[in-house]
Amino acid sequence: MATTEKVMAAGSDLISFTVNGRAVEVSVPGSRRLSRVLRDDLGLTGTKVGCDAGDCGACTVLLNGESVCSCLMAAGQVAGCEITTVEGLVGREPLQGRLQESFLYHGAAQCGACTPGMLVAATALLEKNPAPNEGEVMDAIGGVLCRCTGYRKIMNAIMEAGAGTSMYVSPAAGAAVGSRLVRLDGRKKVEGTEIFGADEVPAAALGVRVIRCPHHRARFEFGDVDQFVAAHPGVMAVLTAKDVPGVDCYGVIPRFADQPVFAHREARYRGEAVAAVVGEADAVEAFRLAEFPVRWEELTPLKTIEDALANDAARIHPHREGNVLVRGRVVCGDVEKALAEAEIVVQGDYETGFVEHAYIEPEAGFARRIGDSIEIQACTQSPYMDRGDIAKILGIAPEKVRIIPTAVGGGFGSKLDLSVQPFVALAAWKLGRPVRMVYSRTESIVSTTKRHPARMRLRASATREGQLMALDFAADFNTGAYSSWGPTVAGRVPVHASGPYRVPNYRALTRAVHTNIVPAGAFRGFGVPQAAIAQEQLYDELADRVGIDRLEFRILNALRNDTPTVTGQILREGVGIGKCFEALRPKWQAAREEATAFNTKTVGPLRRGVGVAGMWYGCGNTSLPNPSTMRIGLKCDGRIAVHQGAVDIGQGSNTIVTQICADAVGAPVARFDLVSGDTAISPDCGKTSASRQTFVTGKAAHMAGTKLRNEILKLAGACDCAAIEFGDGSVTIVEDEKRKGLALTELPLDAHGYVITCEATFDPPTSPLNEDGQGSPYAVFGFGAHMAEIELDIELGTVRVLKVTAAHDVGRAINPTLVEGQIEGGVAQGIGMALMEEFFPGKGENLHDYLIPSAGDVPPVESILIEDPSSIGPFGAKGIGEQAVIPTAPAILNAIYDAVGVRIYKVPATPDRVRAAILAKANGGARG
Ligand code: FES
Ligand code: FES
Repeated sequence: MATTEKVMAAGSDLISFTVNGRAVEVSVPGSRRLSRVLRDDLGLTGTKVGCDAGDCGACTVLLNGESVCSCLMAAGQVAGCEITTVEGLVGREPLQGRLQESFLYHGAAQCGACTPGMLVAATALLEKNPAPNEGEVMDAIGGVLCRCTGYRKIMNAIMEAGAGTSMYVSPAAGAAVGSRLVRLDGRKKVEGTEIFGADEVPAAALGVRVIRCPHHRARFEFGDVDQFVAAHPGVMAVLTAKDVPGVDCYGVIPRFADQPVFAHREARYRGEAVAAVVGEADAVEAFRLAEFPVRWEELTPLKTIEDALANDAARIHPHREGNVLVRGRVVCGDVEKALAEAEIVVQGDYETGFVEHAYIEPEAGFARRIGDSIEIQACTQSPYMDRGDIAKILGIAPEKVRIIPTAVGGGFGSKLDLSVQPFVALAAWKLGRPVRMVYSRTESIVSTTKRHPARMRLRASATREGQLMALDFAADFNTGAYSSWGPTVAGRVPVHASGPYRVPNYRALTRAVHTNIVPAGAFRGFGVPQAAIAQEQLYDELADRVGIDRLEFRILNALRNDTPTVTGQILREGVGIGKCFEALRPKWQAAREEATAFNTKTVGPLRRGVGVAGMWYGCGNTSLPNPSTMRIGLKCDGRIAVHQGAVDIGQGSNTIVTQICADAVGAPVARFDLVSGDTAISPDCGKTSASRQTFVTGKAAHMAGTKLRNEILKLAGACDCAAIEFGDGSVTIVEDEKRKGLALTELPLDAHGYVITCEATFDPPTSPLNEDGQGSPYAVFGFGAHMAEIELDIELGTVRVLKVTAAHDVGRAINPTLVEGQIEGGVAQGIGMALMEEFFPGKGENLHDYLIPSAGDVPPVESILIEDPSSIGPFGAKGIGEQAVIPTAPAILNAIYDAVGVRIYKVPATPDRVRAAILAKANGGARG
């Protein structure tokens, strides 16, 4: 055994134990969480903390060979024990790293925040049972939550860990696109060395603790904050709105920016920041909240859309009439006439609730002031947007703000908005010391954005032959106290609420309505999943009324090349929705027959059903500029730097963008070095959202790669058709069987330090929408269709999803493993949305009460990849990130109807709602 390492910290007990085979002694209070000792005192940050409450399993370690949550273990409990963290798994007998390799091979780590916990839990199993079955694996990882993968690839990786995996793809030059290349940033994730927002602490960093409003709406006054500071040794300052040197107003859409760093006199939602206490980390943590001098006067909040619309006198923002933030509108044809003259009309009201992002990594980061500049290292989906807002808040030029994105432990839209950044930046700016902040799970839930709850009313009509004739869609979205992405949701939904179908008469009107609730913002799909829940259920009703098979109804009405969309846009190519539905056809027929046979035979409370739903989703911003700029540089050693500013939040942009770039250059992927999205060294690739990175940044990478290839050929005086071979310190041009070498080491370096630097910008061609919402809002759409098979217990109201078959037109699957990962993860989130996830502001602000799917909730997912290419996208590719979540929930809801004949109009379809709908039907009604 190695020599004992002693770590002395302020505290009482000297505790000895073994970590990863190394004896350690720590001087800490015996009650200190083991997770904290490992991370803060021993620097083993591979162990993650997602909740500090035993709910997420991210902190799982081995204690004498058994997996335990280290956040629930006190340091005093592990005296004399043997602890193994993810760092200690590398090379550990008997697995010898095979599990990590299997994770890489299967694409089982996306963002990587759950990966250490998963690996440790799986190790505990595999060391006892080298060949576990699916049920045993499910049990072993049942306590570890993953928000990205849908668990299936993790389970496969664990079951196949024993097999050994020497099947890595190492594509040759020109063959990267389409290959199942292992995630380029994967190794750090499986070895526990990836740096997330909370994993680095600068020397002498101060802490900051935000004081948040405990009421949904309240006026407030501060007491004697100077006395508070004086009475708390180690506390150095209290920051409030008056300490904001620049403009105390930020927001992701500048035209609608309305959010202060600290509320001014009135807090508009529970969880809104009113002040920040800065000082030595221990001191900031130690004081009781009740000691902070603030007096609250609770006001009557407007919590629902109905309340807000009915109370103009109590406006949340004085200039927003009727509490309406913004309206959206798309109209074509004559919907009233079409409905009046229709042969068959159906209608319905649907409702969805708040959904929490629940990424495993809570927001975290630090800032430091360097002269008249500020540096912020934090988890973010949008470094350049952060830069702009922080510059405004501090009153300095954007060039004086450097944003260094860390690895992001899941985002799904919420990390597009600022979280810790303004607090650490202001504190570091004022105090001149580095300042760090890590949100607790509760702080993350109460203060960061949610999926918009929606209230939707629809009418639709069709001919007796099943031709869709009209859709009238009206929706209000609860956008919370500040604008965030409310305008985007209100603008995107009307374009998409038709679904991927030809609807000649259409009216979609939306409103984003302010309430005294935490802001709703971006969440995978920007409101389209909510609209799909309504429209896809209503289309099932329409198909039933017509008397036509529900899938055939969709195939009949599916958009095709050259048919106009509801905005009048005519897509000339790549409309792959028909192919998606057709790919489901044989499986649909078989599944329906199977469900019918089951229901005919069964005598107990179980019923089976099959549902289908379609989706389309425009990639990138709606009718707005949306550029990405990619820079690549040929280094004198023959390697190629990719300045990859498209933040990889787990979806795989680091790998996908490099694959595209490699094939454009004609060099093997192994030649490429990733340079991160640090705003000081990489150009702006825009935000990671709206399924735009493969399409937009990928295209910019393709253009930059092509330029580099051309520049090399030009330098060598060769023609376009010549081949390039990349070597160490040289390239060789092969033309007409002649070889010509270029010694890169002898060439001068440019301002970036490269032999050749190429930059390219791509902005998708779109057009503005007119007042009826007519125009071309997106250059490219992705399409998809899901089929869900479910089993429902009519006595309990519980629903179990047995299988999801997901067909997606991705244009070109740049990396099929990563595309499948997006689909499986999207399906898991769709299951959560359909069946269990609903956030009630002020209640259950933790991962114990807020339920997300665990391994046992996600069934096998069969992904069918359709490649109907776009001539605009790189190698034909479209997006997949948002698309994957949209059709799952409506397919499940349609399957519930198929099973028991009740419609669930308010989601999630929790057992009580399903049971109530079944009882209502039995009593003569059919509403859920
Ligand atoms: S951090 Fe320990 S279970 Fe979540
Ligand atoms: S990969 Fe599991 S939480 Fe992101």
